[in-house]
Amino acid sequence: MFVPYGISLFFGLWIILTNCYHAEGYVLNTNPTFAKWPGNTVPFLISPEYSPAEQSTIRLAAAQLQADMGNCIRFVDLTNSGIPTNTHYVIISKSGGPGVPASSCYSFPGMVVSPSQPPPSYAQHMAIQNGPGGCLSSTRQVMRFLASVLGLRGEHNKPGRDNFIQINIQNVDRLAPLVGAFNEYDPRTVAFNATDFDYNSISMLDPLSYSRNGAPVIVSRNGRPIFNGGRLSFRDCYALSLMYGCMVQCPTFY
Ligand SMILES: *[C@@H]1O[C@H](CO)[C@@H](O)[C@H](O)[C@H]1NC(C)=O
Repeated sequence: MFVPYGISLFFGLWIILTNCYHAEGYVLNTNPTFAKWPGNTVPFLISPEYSPAEQSTIRLAAAQLQADMGNCIRFVDLTNSGIPTNTHYVIISKSGGPGVPASSCYSFPGMVVSPSQPPPSYAQHMAIQNGPGGCLSSTRQVMRFLASVLGLRGEHNKPGRDNFIQINIQNVDRLAPLVGAFNEYDPRTVAFNATDFDYNSISMLDPLSYSRNGAPVIVSRNGRPIFNGGRLSFRDCYALSLMYGCMVQCPTFY
């Protein structure tokens, strides 16, 4: 197992790590249908339907996530360069391709290796759209789905989450159950620590997402604030470092 290295230096907002680490609050995909990306690289295409401002939000989100991972994981924009042969890549569009519920965002939790997509069908879809249930209002929202396609799954969906957060079902809109926004994962499909929770994970839905009445849907059970300002949490970065074999100094913003 990889342990981030550390020396006692400090520069900018990056704090060098000095401790050993447990399997703390994070959720990683273990379903073998979805693999980690080879070469730590996620090539992507942005559908031409997006406005320049929307395209810029998506590109900024990819750049921020890559920066927070110390460039150990790369998002490579193929939109203008075309697609190299034998390359798995993600098509980012508003509809998300066939079978994705409307007015929501969606990503597979890793690179799709399902037999239903044999070579040379290397494209997989991701839905990123605006509006209610959408995720284009900020780079933070888009980063949640870019983290998901790397294999980092929703902290608020992990088995045991009810010990840390309360889901107020009475405030939830009609779309949330259709897209499974607050489902708990099957424990056989994720690696997680049910006794710990990361309230600052990029993978968390904002407390007001999918609210039908403006009241919070997700509430902390112990007073720890739920907040992510558009950067990976330390544990997000740590978990992805474990998965992708990165030697990086993870950010500690929260
Ligand atoms: C789970 O998290 C708790 C609290 O941080 C920690 O004490 C424990 O060692 C973790 N479990 C594993 C298996 O790492």
